[in-house]
Amino acid sequence: MQNPDGLYLLENSRDQPMNKTEFDILRARRDTPGCEQVLHFNNAGAALMPVPVVDAVTGHLRLEAEIGGYEAAEAAHEAVEHVYDAFSQLLHCQPDEIAIIENATRAWDMAFYALPFKSGERILTSMAEYASNYIAFLQVARRMGAVIEVIPNDENGQVSVEALQKMIDQRVKLIAITHVPTNGGLVNPALEIGNIARQADILYLLDACQSVGQMPIDVQAIGCDMLSATGRKYLRGPRGTGFLYVRRDLIEQLEPPLLDLHAATWVTKDKYEIRADARRFENWETYYAGKIGLGVAVDYALAWGLEDIWARVSYLASTLRTRLQQIPRVQVHDLGLQKCGIVSFTIDGWSPQEIRGKLAAQKMNVHVSSAASTRLDMDGRGLPRVVRASVHYYNTEEEIDRFCDFVSDFVRRNS
Ligand SMILES: Cc1ncc(COP(=O)(O)O)c(C=O)c1O
Repeated sequence: MQNPDGLYLLENSRDQPMNKTEFDILRARRDTPGCEQVLHFNNAGAALMPVPVVDAVTGHLRLEAEIGGYEAAEAAHEAVEHVYDAFSQLLHCQPDEIAIIENATRAWDMAFYALPFKSGERILTSMAEYASNYIAFLQVARRMGAVIEVIPNDENGQVSVEALQKMIDQRVKLIAITHVPTNGGLVNPALEIGNIARQADILYLLDACQSVGQMPIDVQAIGCDMLSATGRKYLRGPRGTGFLYVRRDLIEQLEPPLLDLHAATWVTKDKYEIRADARRFENWETYYAGKIGLGVAVDYALAWGLEDIWARVSYLASTLRTRLQQIPRVQVHDLGLQKCGIVSFTIDGWSPQEIRGKLAAQKMNVHVSSAASTRLDMDGRGLPRVVRASVHYYNTEEEIDRFCDFVSDFVRRNS
């Protein structure tokens, strides 16, 4: 079943949790040696890599050391090329619509800075926008006179589709929103936004950095023209990897902000020709081991099934949220109608950094999200920082119990 956000859901996933018997949790944990070392609720930072990914990366690094980097790349040609096919399956697009780039930010930048803004043209964005994107908006506003406008949230704290509809006019050049923000469980209504963009023939750039890998993403259903994400988070790929999707008929209209001899060919003394596929957004030198590992990570996610991953991640996160909400002095801050694997909270009287430190001493990994990463949202809610606990399918109910028992004891001991 597909919901309006372009996500496939179990009907009422809270009532039909993906539990131990439906999801082979033992295998998931066997494949994830890190589970024995830590309680990892920092999947929105970087998830624990599964064995096949680690093997692919280290195997290629070893090959580079043994036979030479260029020779290893040649020998692994098929595995390197496979990453484009893997993403085409994951996102429901064509392999030539994918560029592999070193992280989500640079992938997003390559698309955004390719857009030729004129003075007065409007960029519509979300309250939850990621800092690096907003900094780029500010730079383009200063350099080219583009105008940044923020779509208000609705009563549930997600992008108001109604408000967006009312903001559309001839001067809107781009709708650029963050699907799942870095600092909480919100899932913005990407598909409804896509419908508006399509009807009005406006370019739509989706930052899907936190959503790819934890939920099904179909670029055709969402209707985005460009989409960026990273390898190390919910996809469980290696660090230093990311990708960009650009719709086929848009690729050749976009001149990348940076070119090299991989993105373009120097054909005569005064002339270059930019390649016709999305690899025009890549550069020549690349992290081959990471690229191979990223392809394996996508295959690995596809083998589990994105619907099953999403059902289990939402179930675990909603369990964690419910348990935390029951602890006195704990405030849970997640917005939106539909929530994902990220759970954000604070404890009255304690700074998020102190809480993170206490948890780290117990080998429990969380992250602290600060206002500087999502300033519009955090300043708007008067939140300088929150603890971000983000679960993945290999986490367990037992880990949630252990985590919440510790938080609960901590609050009791310090009241
Ligand atoms: C929503 C969002 N967008 C973009 C990024 C940047 O990703 P990367 O560090 O791979 O550039 C992040 C990282 O946390 C993020 O959460």
